[in-house]
Amino acid sequence: MPRARHQPRLKVTATIGTRHPNVDLNVLAIAPAQPRYTPAMPPSPRIADFVASLPLAPGMRVLEIGCGPGVAARAVCRRIGHGRVVAIDRSATAIRIAARASRAECEAGLLELRLAAIEDFVLAGNEPRFDLAFAQRVGVLDGRHPADTALRRLKAALTPAAFLFVDGMPPLPARDL
Ligand SMILES: C[S@@+](CC[C@H](N)C(=O)[O-])C[C@H]1O[C@@H](n2cnc3c(N)ncnc32)[C@H](O)[C@@H]1O
Repeated sequence: MPRARHQPRLKVTATIGTRHPNVDLNVLAIAPAQPRYTPAMPPSPRIADFVASLPLAPGMRVLEIGCGPGVAARAVCRRIGHGRVVAIDRSATAIRIAARASRAECEAGLLELRLAAIEDFVLAGNEPRFDLAFAQRVGVLDGRHPADTALRRLKAALTPAAFLFVDGMPPLPARDL
C-alpha cells in the first residue's frame, strides 16, 4: 500500500543496526538531544578563549555583533566592571533566547540586547560610541559576505581609538574601517 507523503514526525527509539517498524530507514545512529541552553552553562572553549583574548577593562563600552544566545556577551559583562555591553542580532529568536538567559545582566544594567542587523545599526540618541566591538561567526564580518555597509555603520558607532575583533582575523582599528 502506498505510504502517505507527509507523515507525522516520529520519535525514533531503536537499537543501532535494527530496522524500526514505523520508519523506512535502517537506524544508523541516534543523535544525542541538544542540551537546552541555560545561563548556568559555562561558555564553550571557543567562546571562552575568544573573550579571554579581548583587551577588556573596567568601564568599557562594548558592542557585540551577532550575539546569538548571548554567551560571549555575558562573559564580557564579567570583565568590564561597571561598563556596558550592547549585543545585537538580526534574529528575533536569537534575541529572545539571549534575553531569557541574560536576565541578571540586563537587570543589572550591564547588558542591553537589541534586535538589529549591523547593516542598519545606529547609535541611539546621544548614546556614546563604543570602545571595542567584536563578532564571532558572523558572515558579514568574517569575509564570507560583502561588508561595506556593515563596516561603515561600525565606524560611525566606534570611538577613533576602538578596535574591531572578529574571529580568525587580525584586530582592525576603527580608523581603518
Ligand atoms: C553562527 S551564529 C554565531 C552566534 C555567536 N556569535 C557564536 O559565536 O556562538 C551567527 C549569529 O549572527 C547573527 N547575524 C548574522 N548576520 C548578522 C548581521 N548582519 N547583523 C546582525 N546579526 C547577524 C545571526 O542571526 C546569528 O544569531
